[in-house]
Amino acid sequence: MDKLTPPPVIAIDGPSASGKGTVAQRVAHALGFHYLDSGALYRLVALKVLQAGYNLHDETQLADAARNLNVVFQDSAISLEGRDVTDDIRTEQCGILASQLAAYPGIRAALTDRQRAFRQRPGLVADGRDMGSVIFPDAALKIFLTASAEIRAQRRYKQLMEKGINANIADLLQDIKNRDDRDRNRSIAPLQQHHDAQLLDTSSLTISQAENAVLSWYDEIRAKNRV
Ligand code: DC
Repeated sequence: MDKLTPPPVIAIDGPSASGKGTVAQRVAHALGFHYLDSGALYRLVALKVLQAGYNLHDETQLADAARNLNVVFQDSAISLEGRDVTDDIRTEQCGILASQLAAYPGIRAALTDRQRAFRQRPGLVADGRDMGSVIFPDAALKIFLTASAEIRAQRRYKQLMEKGINANIADLLQDIKNRDDRDRNRSIAPLQQHHDAQLLDTSSLTISQAENAVLSWYDEIRAKNRV
């Protein structure tokens, strides 16, 4: 790869709790690539908004907060204004508010450059809702990774239980359906499978099977394009 060619990107988009984060991290690790969890950025904005008590209708103030977010990603730890918030941003409250704030064009625009800055050599695996459609439209491989809402609710339930966080599976399923609706029906960068994205339904796949599917698609692309 010559120095002028931008580093390759694998874009993995999909709905909430589909397992795309886990698969994306494993693919990044297997390839020695960087990893961008774009949802974490929206969750960080949500946490900042909750802490600062900003008015949810003041889009200018919210976009400024997103632009000026003082965040450090180090390995799998995330800090906001010097405080470790790795677990704080994973609550359902943060996820729901993140999904609401993500519908504001000003907030999405404020986070665009920050996301693109993750594109470093030797390459990047980025997961989110609009990685392949908006942030990295020239991604070498685009995947729409999904699973049924019921399976996603079960996976989220198991994850929360493992962290010692109490949850109710019926409430989780309802939250997932509400979040899907909001993410799919917003006017800007809605969640959808684009024509150039490969569908990967993980409802009956293990994490390793999903990881291997992505890696073998990427191998094919590399062989064809010599990426
Ligand atoms: O992937 P996640 O569940 O952590 O994301 C939290 C919310 O952030 C999600 O409901 C929608 C929003 N989001 C987005 O709009 N665009 C992205 N690229 C990533 C997340």
